[in-house]
Amino acid sequence: MSHDPIAGAFAAHDGVLHCESVPLPAIAERFGTPTYVYSRAALLAGYRAYADALAGRSALVCYAMKANSNLTVLDLLARAGSGFDIVSGGELARVLAVGGDPRKVVFSGVGKSEAEIAQALAVGILCFNIESVPELEVVERVAQRLGKRAPISVRVNPDVDPKTHPYISTGLKNNKFGVAYADVPALYRRAAASAHLEVVGIDFHIGSQITEVAPYLEAAERLLDVVDALARDGIGLHHIDFGGGVGIRYRDETPPPVGELIAALLARVDARGHGGKTILFEPGRSIAGPAGTLLTRVQYVKHGEAKNFAIVDAAMNDLARPAMYQAWMPVHPVAPSAHEIALYDIVGPVCESSDWLARERALALAPGDLLAIGGAGAYGMSMASNYNSRPRAAEVMVDGERCYEVRRRELVEELFAGESVLPTGSA
Ligand code: LLP
Repeated sequence: MSHDPIAGAFAAHDGVLHCESVPLPAIAERFGTPTYVYSRAALLAGYRAYADALAGRSALVCYAMKANSNLTVLDLLARAGSGFDIVSGGELARVLAVGGDPRKVVFSGVGKSEAEIAQALAVGILCFNIESVPELEVVERVAQRLGKRAPISVRVNPDVDPKTHPYISTGLKNNKFGVAYADVPALYRRAAASAHLEVVGIDFHIGSQITEVAPYLEAAERLLDVVDALARDGIGLHHIDFGGGVGIRYRDETPPPVGELIAALLARVDARGHGGKTILFEPGRSIAGPAGTLLTRVQYVKHGEAKNFAIVDAAMNDLARPAMYQAWMPVHPVAPSAHEIALYDIVGPVCESSDWLARERALALAPGDLLAIGGAGAYGMSMASNYNSRPRAAEVMVDGERCYEVRRRELVEELFAGESVLPTGSA
């Protein structure tokens, strides 16, 4: 398993897959399946890769919590010193619920509502990453109403191809994200002239699951060009936010090690005379992804005419990435099997042909066997839904020999607790 993305935190001992020191079958026994299993050590190692590479600088890692917003994940990261990149009032509420520092929060996203903007202003976040002129105007208006000055950064769309899946590229001209490159200086001038806005930074985010350094550096150079142009206009910035997007290895991808990418970026920042500025990153996947696995049990094995199917108890509602992006995620048997190896599509119980978790994997399987889907710590549980009235999975955090249920399995009654039927007598 040396090429394995989840090696280390998830490794086999005597043929049985463990998370840290806990055998996965013991977790399945105790908490049932499907269950997301996270390694505390791997999560913190993911954060430290950034923090270490930025040591000695004025810098802040703002974990993009859309990747995994479980309170325990947030609490561990906040205590390690992390800030947060949020995209909704709901995410802000989660940060506050674990006692996270709002002054370490950046607020991204193209559709912040007035209520969300007011909520963020009231608690005093680090900055709003502005994505359009109309949004800037709303932030200004809300700040004026509340008698505040809103700290802002403009999310620049550098029009750089991140060379990733089209659904997760965000920095191209035709993406909905960021302010068009040519329009950025005017927006800053507009903001700098406002009594209710305070220009503090600049940011970009060109995409997710990026496996090459070049697009990142290209976008950074374009961002630094803007920083220089603004300085010539007398607009000084306090921070530069290089977004997130570093990929992880699901199969055979070779993303740049975080330390290497950061060193290359910092070298450019320094060479261009901006070494004194605070540096921000907004990583999600590269922190949480390798720290989690989805544990699921084979229910049925079905030998079809053209294909073999292993029908497991997890489905697209638990892990949407394969159905949504045709994502390839590693599937590992949890324990050795004496059965014959065959090619299987791993599918769930949801009534959709797109309900697959993996395709054509050579595995020895029988009903009752456990499988672990790797790299599932990011964009797994956070994208889960209740489609087909399926309660969402449990989440377990492992710390050495101990494991904690950090979110219990949802109950069926909770699924319709907010619903009601029409009063009797209504037609
Ligand atoms: N900052 C902003 C403004 C973002 O939009 C994102 C992700 C991030 C940071 C974090 O990017 P990361 O380091 O995680 O790549 N659900 C998709 C990924 C969507 C990413 C959206 N934006 C997936 O499962 O592949």
